[in-house]
Amino acid sequence: MKKIGIMTTGGDCSGLNTVIHRIIRGATLRGWDVWGILDGTDGLCVNPPAAIRLDDMMLPIENARLAGSFLHNGRANALNFETAAETGRTDVFNKQLRKSLRALELDALILIGGNGSLSLAWANRAVYRDVQLICIPKTIDMDMPLTSRTIGFDTAVQELTRFCDQLMLTARSHHRWFVVQAMGRDCGQLALNAGVAAGASAILIPEIKFDVDSLIEHIKHSQPDYGIIMVAEGITLRGHSGRPADMISRKLTAAGIVNRTAYPEHIQRAGDTTATDRILATRFADCALQAIENNETYVMTVLECDDVHTVALSDFVDAGEIVRDPKIPDLMTSNAYVSPDDALLSVAHDMGIYIGTIKK
Ligand code: F6P
Repeated sequence: MKKIGIMTTGGDCSGLNTVIHRIIRGATLRGWDVWGILDGTDGLCVNPPAAIRLDDMMLPIENARLAGSFLHNGRANALNFETAAETGRTDVFNKQLRKSLRALELDALILIGGNGSLSLAWANRAVYRDVQLICIPKTIDMDMPLTSRTIGFDTAVQELTRFCDQLMLTARSHHRWFVVQAMGRDCGQLALNAGVAAGASAILIPEIKFDVDSLIEHIKHSQPDYGIIMVAEGITLRGHSGRPADMISRKLTAAGIVNRTAYPEHIQRAGDTTATDRILATRFADCALQAIENNETYVMTVLECDDVHTVALSDFVDAGEIVRDPKIPDLMTSNAYVSPDDALLSVAHDMGIYIGTIKK
């Protein structure tokens, strides 16, 4: 019989409870013992480690669709890999984590995390030397290389689309525009996908150059004379500071275009998990459990051409564009941006959406 642990780290998103539920289900059917570590790495920093034994009754199936993590993701001000590195406490922090994992006597740990969590797990891989480490990618930003989908993205697109759908009705009544700021850090996937789904008139993302005068011309001649201008939070405007939606809104106002800003914020991370995210969570959970059976370690589950399999965590870190943080020399994050060849860019352009300067 195996003893496995589950840990959710980084920002939450919808779909975490589904993946936790499916891991418990699949592991229980195998006769394994399942433990949930509470609050991500915070739960490993206390003696004894904060962990609870999990069974089907603790996370009932009807709750598996709810956003957030039943296990919590940790407090923002807690000691973690990043703050430990910033304050020169990496060795102490890592030792404590390894000690806790040993104390729990886990055979394997399933870590559900985003770019930061997974690249930090690799950078500090000695922590996980005594367990099989299997990672599952989740994030609403969809900025992780090697996988064409991450848990939480589809639900975030759905929530942001729903938000725009409501705004569209009031926009129509007053012949005016809403500049909606999407999350996504420096990646435009969420803004692009929800923008197309909601029928936005313009979509501005960090990966594609845009020109404010062209945007203004486009909006002035748009029919109908109301709608959504989707702005990714990662865009910048030379010579301007402040929130991207505010910057664009001020420019539009100066050009005589009546508009309001709207910030869906963390609603994008909430919302009942969509069927697509639930299926992905179920497939990733199944793949992770199989990886444990196959004695794999330091791997991540991915979706590639509708096939779910594992890839080496080192390949994941090597794959994306590497961003180094000067304060934390070990930290490397990989970002998978919207590619200039992304078919959705060209579709958006063909549908009359202002998207900036794209290759055709
Ligand atoms: O990475 C997920 C994300 O929701 C980003 O899209 C966003 O920029 C950030 O986290 C918000 O972080 P916080 O919850 O700390 O405000």
